Amino acid sequence: MKPSRFLAFVSSALSISVVPAAFVHPGLLHTAADLTRVARQVNAGVEPWLTGWNKLVNSTYAQSSYTPRPVQLLCRGTPASCTQNYPNIYRDAAAAYALAVRWRVTGDPAYGTAAANVLNAWSATLTEISGNSDKYLASGLYGYQLANAAEILRDYEGFTVANMTALVDLLVDVFYPMNHRFLVEHNDAKVDHYWANWDLCNLATMMSTGVISDNQTMFNEALDYFYNGAGNGAIDKTIWTLYDDGTGQLQESGRDQGHSMLDVALLGVIAQTAYNQGVNLFAYQNSRILAGAEYAAKYNLGNDVQFTTYVNSDVTQTVISNNSRGNVRPIWDLLYNHYVKIDGLEATYTTQYADLVRNDGGGADGGGGYYGTTSGGFDQLGYNTLMFTI
Ligand SMILES: *[C@@H]1O[C@H](CO)[C@@H](O)[C@H](O)[C@H]1NC(C)=O
Ligand SMILES: *[C@@H]1O[C@H](CO)[C@@H](O)[C@H](O)[C@H]1NC(C)=O
Ligand SMILES: *[C@@H]1O[C@H](CO)[C@@H](O)[C@H](O)[C@H]1NC(C)=O
Ligand SMILES: *[C@@H]1O[C@H](CO)[C@@H](O)[C@H](O)[C@H]1NC(C)=O
Repeated sequence: MKPSRFLAFVSSALSISVVPAAFVHPGLLHTAADLTRVARQVNAGVEPWLTGWNKLVNSTYAQSSYTPRPVQLLCRGTPASCTQNYPNIYRDAAAAYALAVRWRVTGDPAYGTAAANVLNAWSATLTEISGNSDKYLASGLYGYQLANAAEILRDYEGFTVANMTALVDLLVDVFYPMNHRFLVEHNDAKVDHYWANWDLCNLATMMSTGVISDNQTMFNEALDYFYNGAGNGAIDKTIWTLYDDGTGQLQESGRDQGHSMLDVALLGVIAQTAYNQGVNLFAYQNSRILAGAEYAAKYNLGNDVQFTTYVNSDVTQTVISNNSRGNVRPIWDLLYNHYVKIDGLEATYTTQYADLVRNDGGGADGGGGYYGTTSGGFDQLGYNTLMFTI
């Protein structure tokens, strides 16, 4: 924890100019100490890291022969003026991350070079993200993933300063402007039209881009939206009704459970990224993120939950949706380890869901490629057991 950064944010909110403290690097999802712990535990053959590691090593996305497929015009959504090709970037982002982790744990340059090839291919090729409104899912979901691969790889000598700069420029010039525009304009829709995950993914990429480009203004823009934003990604709108049992209903709970779980996934990414820069969003408002995670986990485990009728400009939902109930995503060990092991909180249902997802994977969760071939299986980087167990 770096209290200085927290103070910097508070001060800037009060319009007192301060000299910002430097960002911590690596410091998106994983600090240097985290990465060192992963390598140590894997090399010592200790569970559950070993099972998580074997899953990563066994993935087609973690092989040094991996060939990236960058595109100049990234397209998500139909109908559109372009042909959808966004699986190229979610597969390649998953590969860049898995290869970067594999390099960091083994020190074998074959994996570092393969990861660098993926990132370099995209920074040298991609210039525009288009499609229908779904283009804003692409600008949100894939930017933070590329940033995380690059942040791990920044210590690899084969990923040169020029290469890092090129990747940072891609995030700043192509991804960030769309993140910003979406959070301000919401594609010209009513501010409550887009479900929470649209805001949240764009926040995750904005925050990650702020860190990776050392831009305090950008980082604060994301933080301020999390605290005070007008759309559904602001924390009091994503987790909008708190109950006495410590759970909190999610904005997408009446929609379906896959997207509710995605909200939880992205809140985890945002909170972990901020935490590694000294801003504790996990604890914010009496651990409000945990309340949302507990609600989703409780219902998806098969328990009844309270439900308050949800109304926005488009829908009125009187019951929770059982669509995709039991949705499995590799997102829970991040939350479990923080709230239970670091904060010492109880987190009953989050603990059970982390167990469920670990057991589903044979002792550890997997990453991209282990949860289907469509986009949902790649919305999160995964390998949470390997990367977040402490
Ligand atoms: C590795 O992948 C192969 C082929 O998909 C599978 O049969 C095997 O069980 C996997 N091993 C591990 C440790 O996951
Ligand atoms: C990566 O770095 C190498 C060596 O500096 C350079 O030749 C290559 O053009 C760079 N690629 C990108 C995309 O920055
Ligand atoms: C930091 O990001 C903001 C947008 O949030 C931008 O206006 C500013 O130019 C950036 N600063 C630098 C030094 O790039
Ligand atoms: C799912 O929810 C619908 C609508 O509330 C309900 O009619 C249906 O019985 C539920 N199905 C299960 C398996 O609970």
